[in-house]
Amino acid sequence: MKRIVLLFVLLVYVQVLRAQEENSVDPSMEEASAVRVIDSHLCHFKKPLQDPTDEDDDQYCDCDVHNTPMGLPEVQIDCRKHQLADGFWQEYEQLPQGTIRLDLSQTGLTVVPRLSGENLRYLNIGHNQITTIPDKVFTNVSLLEELDLSSNRIETLTTDALAGLSKLTRIDLSGNLIRSIEVNAFSNALHLKQLTLSNNTLGTFFIRTDLYLRLGVTNRLAILEMERCNLTDINLSSGVGLETARLGYNPLQQLTNLPKQLAHLDISGTPIRSLSAKFLPHLLHLVTLELKDMPILYTLEEYALYGLPRLSNLNLQGSRNLSSIHPHVFGQNVDRGETVTKLERLTLTGTNIRTLNSTLQAAFEKMRRLDMRGAPLRCDCQLRWLRELPNLQTLGICVKPNAVRGLTFGMVESHQFECRAEQFWIYTVFNVLLAILLIVLLSIGIVMIARAIRPKPHVQLRKVGASSPYARVTIEPNRAEVL
Ligand SMILES: *[C@@H]1O[C@H](CO)[C@@H](O)[C@H](O)[C@H]1NC(C)=O
Ligand SMILES: *[C@@H]1O[C@H](CO)[C@@H](O)[C@H](O)[C@H]1NC(C)=O
Ligand SMILES: *[C@@H]1O[C@H](CO)[C@@H](O)[C@H](O)[C@H]1NC(C)=O
Ligand SMILES: *[C@@H]1O[C@H](CO)[C@@H](O)[C@H](O)[C@H]1NC(C)=O
Ligand SMILES: *[C@@H]1O[C@H](CO)[C@@H](O)[C@H](O)[C@H]1NC(C)=O
Ligand SMILES: *[C@@H]1O[C@H](CO)[C@@H](O)[C@H](O)[C@H]1NC(C)=O
Repeated sequence: MKRIVLLFVLLVYVQVLRAQEENSVDPSMEEASAVRVIDSHLCHFKKPLQDPTDEDDDQYCDCDVHNTPMGLPEVQIDCRKHQLADGFWQEYEQLPQGTIRLDLSQTGLTVVPRLSGENLRYLNIGHNQITTIPDKVFTNVSLLEELDLSSNRIETLTTDALAGLSKLTRIDLSGNLIRSIEVNAFSNALHLKQLTLSNNTLGTFFIRTDLYLRLGVTNRLAILEMERCNLTDINLSSGVGLETARLGYNPLQQLTNLPKQLAHLDISGTPIRSLSAKFLPHLLHLVTLELKDMPILYTLEEYALYGLPRLSNLNLQGSRNLSSIHPHVFGQNVDRGETVTKLERLTLTGTNIRTLNSTLQAAFEKMRRLDMRGAPLRCDCQLRWLRELPNLQTLGICVKPNAVRGLTFGMVESHQFECRAEQFWIYTVFNVLLAILLIVLLSIGIVMIARAIRPKPHVQLRKVGASSPYARVTIEPNRAEVL
């Protein structure tokens, strides 16, 4: 009996509890969602989905509500520089309805917050102290398109770290401590277009690993950034969709495995002394080539830029030691006019280029802008061809020869581009003429003097000799007496 009574009491109790629960949830659905919105830890909504209060000193982030043309509210949350301690994050954080953008950079995070929001497109958790990305941590923000994890202390990326992010188009992992990435880490991100891995020590890792075949990056990837990764080489031949590769500031030895349709390549800061014909493969679609700030580059060798028929923008800015560009740098076909280059902009700012061989003229036919500011230009006869190119905007100042020192390249008239050899020749001719003139004058002078002197003794002797032959004899003793 006692047991039955106890069971009954329990049942009643449960019923009462349920009733209470129902009562608390009962009010209309609107209010339920409003309650959810007001409950946000990040924004302080006084009324549901109205622009929340925004005071600098409160514990809330800056939240903005906009209405889309469709009438739906969109929330953008900016928590930058708010110190949200890890304890702030509960089990998981339900974002206010309509949150499309959340910036949690520089908030002192040490773990990835577990967020839930079905509209979130952009998430920035960069510039924090995050060390690991737990598996599947982003599964409740599955519409995320851009994820910024830069400047943290992440050491590795696991296979499931990005699980569920099938809409991801951009991810920034730069400035972390990543040395290895697990197999298929990117294979969920089927729409990934831009991958940034700069400032991670991944050089040794990518000697053995293929970004595409092993890590699951797809051909949709258009932009790859891997600057300052200690890369010596990388095989990107499977990246048939790749358009832009930024691989600067790596100790690259060569780059022969680049996809053929690459349009923009940046290998600035590569510590090579000489760009040889073997360094780059033939890239038929390459438009831009950046070779800025190459610390020890001093020459572009013969054929170094051969096989780049679409190249229109070449930038060598700040490669301070660059002093020579081989006359056949684009290959001899171009020099002979058999093929044309598309080169339109050449930047030689801050290089050590003094002159350019006139053989390059064929390659410069399409050139519109040549920036040589800061280069120690020798504006002599060898550079005259450049001054005479039509439709070319030049920037730069002549340093030599003295006659044109300090003048803007484009302001020096073409006939002023003179060589010392030329001047020397004129002077020599002038000097020779002067010497001949002098000799002629001198000889005339001598002849005249000789004529003036010679006849006198001749005539006197004859006179003396003819009229009085004794006179001479009488004079001589007189002279002897005087002496
Ligand atoms: C995702 O949401 C579910 C509840 O809907 C929750 O149980 C789970 O822990 C959440 N996952 C993450 C990673 O936040
Ligand atoms: C990489 O590091 C360099 C210097 O260490 C710094 O100047 C640069 O801003 C960093 N870039 C990124 C994307 O972290
Ligand atoms: C960079 O790579 C070289 C070899 O490729 C290696 O010897 C060196 O230790 C690497 N540097 C760092 C900082 O890992
Ligand atoms: C580069 O990768 C492709 C396919 O991924 C492979 O066929 C080729 O042999 C690789 N090249 C080198 C030099 O490893
Ligand atoms: C490159 O130029 C810098 C000065 O700009 C100089 O200090 C350095 O020694 C040069 N390096 C080489 C390899 O010539
Ligand atoms: C320019 O290059 C050609 C071909 O290499 C060479 O014959 C010529 O001497 C060079 N001219 C000067 C002024 O260096």
